[in-house]
Amino acid sequence: MFRSDLLKDKVVVVTGGGTGLGKSMAARFAELGARLVLTSRSLDHLEPAAKELRDKGGQALAVACDIRQPESVDAMVHKAVETFGCVDVLVNNAAGNFLARTEELSEHAFDAVLNIVLKGTINMTLACGKRWLAAQHQGVVLSISTTYADTGSAYVVPSAVAKAGVTALTRSLAVEWGGRGIRLVAIAPGAIRTEGAFSRLLPTPELEQKLLKHNPLHRFGTFEEISNLAAFLVSEQAGYINGEMVYMDGGEMLAGASTFSLIGRSLPDAAWAMMKPKKSG
Ligand code: COA
Repeated sequence: MFRSDLLKDKVVVVTGGGTGLGKSMAARFAELGARLVLTSRSLDHLEPAAKELRDKGGQALAVACDIRQPESVDAMVHKAVETFGCVDVLVNNAAGNFLARTEELSEHAFDAVLNIVLKGTINMTLACGKRWLAAQHQGVVLSISTTYADTGSAYVVPSAVAKAGVTALTRSLAVEWGGRGIRLVAIAPGAIRTEGAFSRLLPTPELEQKLLKHNPLHRFGTFEEISNLAAFLVSEQAGYINGEMVYMDGGEMLAGASTFSLIGRSLPDAAWAMMKPKKSG
């Protein structure tokens, strides 16, 4: 799909890069010539993921970092720069989420999600952005947001609040930093099967089936689809895309956004026939 040198020598930091979507995006970036820095709280998954990339001939470094802590973020970015000379692209992928009734959530539960998703993304974006601005180095920030960042969503309220902030950060800094060589973009993915997300958000086959029925394409997204979209968005080929959040959800968000989409899709053929105008004469 892309030239094999699309991301040649770009240094890409991926948060949550040892598992799921982060690992998949990192692998695609490496295939396209990027040098990877994989980071998350624990090295357990990171080291094996970085080794996989190195075994395939890529360059990859695993650095443990708690994105909730600015000092930890700073030390990780410092290590990335020390190893590879610079950072060119930041992918804010690490997240936390679970299904719950909002009135039953403890204060700590709200903090847990907000600190990872919103504060973590802010810490990472500022750590890279400030360095880029000081060095007059061009940079790209890709944040994995969500389809409900604009609309809100019941039962995942800490995540909805945090992701709305991530989207606002993307759009705001795209304007503030765009003229100084820094692009910020986001992807709003629909459901893609990962252990982390599905165990917390779609824990039973029945829930999966409901979502599949609701999605206009009746399927989930794939690792390949999000990885290729991410590779394009962080590449120079997307150089004029700034402040944009790209929906990649098979049309699921739109299907829930209008009264008649919802009603029309559940109507049987007999009901459509009844509504046709009667031929006169
Ligand atoms: N329902 C209600 N509350 C929940 C919950 C759930 N399903 N899961 C966790 N919490 C609450 C905990 O009870 C705790 O609050 P308390 O101390 O008042 O009891 C608070 O959230 C923090 O939980 P804890 O497990 O200590 O926090 P953590 O920082 O280790 O974990 C999470 C953060 C909760 C977001 C955890 O799910 C996580 O690490 N997720 C990362 C991966 C992920 O979510 N991937 C999917 C992304 S789509």
